[in-house]
Amino acid sequence: AAPLRLGIAGLGTVGAGVVKIVQSRGKLLSARCGRDLQITAICARDRHRDRGVDLSGYAWEDDPVALARRDDVDVLVELMGGADGPAKAATEAAIDAGKDVVTANKAMLAHHGQTLAEAAEAQGSVIRFEAAVAGGIPVVKSLTEGLAGNRIQRIMGVMNGTCNYILTRMENAGLPYAEVFDEASKLGYLEADPTLDVGGIDAGHKLALLASIGFGTRVCFDEMELEGIERIAIEDIRAAADMGFRIKLLGVAQMTGRGLEQRMSPCLVPANSPLGQLQAATNMVVIEGDSVGQIVLRGAGAGEGPTASAVLSDVTDIARGIRVPTFGIPATDLQHATSAQVSIP
Ligand code: NAP
Ligand code: HSE
Repeated sequence: AAPLRLGIAGLGTVGAGVVKIVQSRGKLLSARCGRDLQITAICARDRHRDRGVDLSGYAWEDDPVALARRDDVDVLVELMGGADGPAKAATEAAIDAGKDVVTANKAMLAHHGQTLAEAAEAQGSVIRFEAAVAGGIPVVKSLTEGLAGNRIQRIMGVMNGTCNYILTRMENAGLPYAEVFDEASKLGYLEADPTLDVGGIDAGHKLALLASIGFGTRVCFDEMELEGIERIAIEDIRAAADMGFRIKLLGVAQMTGRGLEQRMSPCLVPANSPLGQLQAATNMVVIEGDSVGQIVLRGAGAGEGPTASAVLSDVTDIARGIRVPTFGIPATDLQHATSAQVSIP
């Protein structure tokens, strides 16, 4: 079969990680897909920045929209970030040209996922976004494929690596917020606008996407109850520990007679529970389905390798011809959801 040709927009933490995997695992990926994966073109802001990887074999574009429209690009791999701006423009251009899109951009999808999914459906394109939720954990695939036979009852968990890193480092090392925030930044966990992380918004974007997939609704982010971790002081963490608890930024979504209830906020969880034991940037997603019961997915929620791994999962699916609709069911069939405040179990 002809190679699948990738255009990669964004060569930061995640984009450089994707290039490294494609370069180093070429034969393995080719064997798994039954065809080669070929990066043909790339795009970032600074053409001259050293990204720790050889980019000399790829065509360079300064403009992500031009990259998306190139004849030698089959799939746009959007790894720039931002709800609007170049990420959305390039995604729309790719869909308009009938191409598939793989993205890690939860902000864009939380705000524009419905419109983009409908546009993709109309064009026969797919948008895949495994990397947008919970880093390396294959949670989107679990919901759309592995749990397809279930009526989902509840989705909950810790979905922001930065916040979990900050909270656990503050407790374990007794370090102040500002110091561990800088550590998380150096590890590549933070969003370009870190208030999205510490404000609970990034985790809220992820929960809204999972809820949409799990409950078959349009993405309903705007009415979510949201609170971040900015006001958690080391004294709060110590007081919780004294009582046998840890503070986690916890999200819960469930469908009730009143509509889709979604909440993302700092919660006390027992220190010896699986959620309480989560360290560093680890994420945990707990899903309850009527047939399967409860399943728990746990793994690295941020960083170069885990996130690039999730991007490759989508790319290899497309290479194999697996074209699961964006939100698990066709975008045009998604139901409207009313939001209501959830009570933490
Ligand atoms: P990053 O390190 O800041 O990289 C962003 C890249 O986009 C940079 O290479 C930047 O170019 C490029 N870029 C930004 N604006 C551009 C423009 N107008 N034109 C061309 N290129 C542009 O970000 P990241 O951490 O890799 O995150 C990328 C995406 O993955 C985001 O949507 C993020 O939410 C998502 N994500 C990240 C992680 C993680 O752990 N980091 C995990 C899951 C999902 P320059 O390098 O030249 O500045
Ligand atoms: N900033 C995000 C986090 C990246 O810390 O979880 C992964 O989505």
